[in-house]
Amino acid sequence: MKLYVIFPLSALITLTLQAPSGENCFCEFANSERAFPHDKLSTVEDNASRCNTNITPQKTLELESLLMGLERRLPRLEEDVSTLEREDDGELYGVISLQVVQNELTDIQELIARLNNTILENEHLTHVTNTKLTDLKAEMQELESYDTMQVVRGKLDNRRLRRDLDQCRNTVLPFTNTTEPPHGNCPHGQFRNISGPRVSTAGEYPGSYKYGAWGRDPKPEAGKESWHWLVLLTSGNKHSNYVRLYSSLSAFVGGVSTPGNVLIHSANPTTNTIQGPNVVMYRGALYYNCYNQDEVCRFNLTSKTVTNMKLPKGTRYNSKGNFCHLDECYPFTDLDLATDESGVWVIYTTNQDFGNLVLAKLEDDEQLRLNQTWRTSVYKQGITNTFMVCGVLYATRYVDKEAEEIFYSFDTTTGEERFNLGIFIKKMYPNILSLNYSPVDQMLHAYCDTYMVSYKVLFS
Ligand SMILES: *[C@@H]1O[C@H](CO)[C@@H](O)[C@H](O)[C@H]1NC(C)=O
Ligand SMILES: *[C@@H]1O[C@H](CO)[C@@H](O)[C@H](O)[C@H]1NC(C)=O
Ligand SMILES: *[C@@H]1O[C@H](CO)[C@@H](O)[C@H](O)[C@H]1NC(C)=O
Ligand SMILES: *[C@@H]1O[C@H](CO)[C@@H](O)[C@H](O)[C@H]1NC(C)=O
Ligand SMILES: *[C@@H]1O[C@H](CO)[C@@H](O)[C@H](O)[C@H]1NC(C)=O
Ligand SMILES: *[C@@H]1O[C@H](CO)[C@@H](O)[C@H](O)[C@H]1NC(C)=O
Repeated sequence: MKLYVIFPLSALITLTLQAPSGENCFCEFANSERAFPHDKLSTVEDNASRCNTNITPQKTLELESLLMGLERRLPRLEEDVSTLEREDDGELYGVISLQVVQNELTDIQELIARLNNTILENEHLTHVTNTKLTDLKAEMQELESYDTMQVVRGKLDNRRLRRDLDQCRNTVLPFTNTTEPPHGNCPHGQFRNISGPRVSTAGEYPGSYKYGAWGRDPKPEAGKESWHWLVLLTSGNKHSNYVRLYSSLSAFVGGVSTPGNVLIHSANPTTNTIQGPNVVMYRGALYYNCYNQDEVCRFNLTSKTVTNMKLPKGTRYNSKGNFCHLDECYPFTDLDLATDESGVWVIYTTNQDFGNLVLAKLEDDEQLRLNQTWRTSVYKQGITNTFMVCGVLYATRYVDKEAEEIFYSFDTTTGEERFNLGIFIKKMYPNILSLNYSPVDQMLHAYCDTYMVSYKVLFS
């Protein structure tokens, strides 16, 4: 047994057996190896992990979004240029089109400059990382020469085992705190999942209006608790000038409208009428993007008056900051209004935020005004819609015709952002053109290619 142990070590250790002198017998132990530099190994490991954290998915995402933006703008420019060519009769129309083209060009130049910056940044990062990796490799090779005791191999084995163990844990408990969505201060518990479609109806005008929104007032006047509202973009899929009311969900599904329409203005579109589908009703008033303005409008259905609020300078409007997926942008979705347990929110984007989502709470006293504003790092043209639940912003992206993914969240209480929620909405129709949460019954109301669909939000 002893012989078996000693033999493989004989290359490293010189054992000198001394002849017995008197009654004692002793061994002399001499290690012919250099001591293994554990310190060095641990620095190399630290450096390697620092290298890893420098390269984040965020960086690739940004590049992708910029390229996507550019891809979208170029065809539009081409279209505008050909309009200009058609109209270039030396008259006024030509001048206006030229201005549109110039604006378009300025935007595109800005995009290219940013793309250039991002690419340069990434190149620099790649270069730095490459150098570091080469250094690390050399360091590791040197360390390997020390490694007759197999320290490095042992460590690697340990790490592999630990990783396998972690993977194992994540598969067994898919909803541990690593993947758990944030919940803010939610009385219902934690946002977990979305049910299958609970209501799906073609409504009163089957197949007629591609864009619209519907829902339920979270803070209704007395006697109107079960009322539902509907806004259809009746003019060019862009504009509307009225809200239609139904006394119950069954009246809504059956297409029987009482008391009918409440008109904002007899013309459509005109000052202070509705632009874009992302509207909501709260406390007997409709909130929406005012026609042709970077403003939120509040239409009081009782007094029939409109209150306006201008958004900060640089806010994108008139279809300059839309929700998009790869095949399509949804026109005039610059401003998304949302309701949750705490009131009304506006979600938009600005030039100074480079097209990333900005979220603000609306203060709905007599004067309409913004309370607090939060900036996010999710690019608006990479998402298809947003909604709020319990002070947390959620964003969706298009997966395919059958599925939309709630992938992103921003918790206004903690400022925490997540990009990996992985909650899927089963769609009945390909495009969700507006999406809003009703805190009264925890339903998500979606308007999809002329159909109205709702889902139950599941909390734990
Ligand atoms: C680790 O990185 C530091 C700072 O970048 C550098 O000074 C050091 O030489 C590196 N160490 C090894 C072992 O690569
Ligand atoms: C990209 O950036 C570099 C360095 O700032 C500059 O020299 C170059 O002209 C830029 N290219 C374009 C197309 O903007
Ligand atoms: C994850 O949850 C476990 C148990 O629920 C808790 O002990 C741990 O601190 C949590 N980790 C983080 C990072 O929140
Ligand atoms: C979420 O809900 C969908 C539809 O009801 C279901 O198919 C899916 O398994 C659920 N996911 C989880 C993680 O519970
Ligand atoms: C709407 O107008 C009515 C009547 O003027 C008023 O009592 C009510 O407070 C207004 N609602 C909102 C949300 O401003
Ligand atoms: C902002 O909202 C908070 C919470 O609702 C409120 O306490 C505060 O008074 C509001 N601030 C302004 C300026 O309206």
